[in-house]
Amino acid sequence: MEKKSLRDVAVSGKRVFIRVDYNVPMDKAGNITNDTRIRATLPTLKYLLENNAAVIIGSHLGRPKGQKVPEYTLAPIAKRLSELLGQEVKFAPDCIGPVVTEMAQSLQAGQVLLLENLRYYKEEEKNDAKFSSELAGLAEIAINDAFGVSHRAHASVEGITKFIPAVAGFLMEKEISFLGKAVSNPARPFVAIIGGAKVSDKIGVIDNLLSKVDTLIIGGGMANTFIAAQGYQTGKSLIEGDKLELARELMDKAKTTGVKLLLPTDVVIADQFAADAQHKTVGLDAIEADWMALDIGPATAAKYAAALKTAQTVVWNGPMGVFEFDAFAKGTEAVAQAVAASSAISIVGGGDSIAALEKTGLAEQISHISTGGGASLEFLEGKVLPGIAALADK
Ligand code: 3PG
Repeated sequence: MEKKSLRDVAVSGKRVFIRVDYNVPMDKAGNITNDTRIRATLPTLKYLLENNAAVIIGSHLGRPKGQKVPEYTLAPIAKRLSELLGQEVKFAPDCIGPVVTEMAQSLQAGQVLLLENLRYYKEEEKNDAKFSSELAGLAEIAINDAFGVSHRAHASVEGITKFIPAVAGFLMEKEISFLGKAVSNPARPFVAIIGGAKVSDKIGVIDNLLSKVDTLIIGGGMANTFIAAQGYQTGKSLIEGDKLELARELMDKAKTTGVKLLLPTDVVIADQFAADAQHKTVGLDAIEADWMALDIGPATAAKYAAALKTAQTVVWNGPMGVFEFDAFAKGTEAVAQAVAASSAISIVGGGDSIAALEKTGLAEQISHISTGGGASLEFLEGKVLPGIAALADK
């Protein structure tokens, strides 16, 4: 069911609560090291301000578990947002309570108020009704632009929609549009690339995509489990011994559904898990007992790039190797280049794949970089995300 967006409601002269996902990485000194998630909400915020709304912003940061942990304050975010918007962003010392209510009520059209971390209250994650209604009491309309947290049925995401009308912001709308089209009506051939350390983290995604894609490419640590499931020795490579049967079942499912499942045919092995490890490229039958596979090999990377050439839709989540170490980043870089060079609609999710694209300077060439980690995976699994389900239908 299509969801109502910001364009479907009158916001002029209204107090609007917008839930965003400003769970951004910070260094130890409290400096924001990547503000992508903040910048991604600017179209919604600017629209609200241009249309004379008084804008009250709520977000979580980290997992303070209901405690007022100072390192998780949103104060640095208020500062950055103010720079990005080019106007003052008032910062509330709390997210509920009399002081916040007074600040929200005196907020004028065209002004912005950022609330303190919602997860300073355990009631947020518990989806507590009273807490939800207190948040709702700050505004007349709720807007959800927090795709990254829409897989959580939390008070500011789901509970609040029971008290005031709730619609999607522009970022949310964009995420649903790109990911939704990919899973329900993709331009074909549809190629998905799934990487990362463990197959157990992405079973649901692989299983669901096997009934949707034309080609499924597997890389990263999880590929080792598929290599072992084919009977090869994998030495000291990371494998999940209890997932070998599952890997075989997924390979069988690919055969039954007619999906091309592409797995490594060569790997870069290392004598230890270290940036300066000794390393070499070998075929699958030559992985030495004391060595470990840390990247896909060049023949595999070329095979994957060739499969991406004709793709019309590409979804990529997870690196092909230990890309933090330069010696084992080549597979991920080759895939990043192939995805960027493709004329397909390309959708990339997951912190590591995005970091790899940024490292190679290719992020601009991607159609859509999802701001959701866990949320985009659950979406690709075909799950109903509670934060989206709760929004008003069109
Ligand atoms: C994320 O970073 O994926 C979202 O902000 C959700 O955070 P969480 O996993 O702590 O709920």
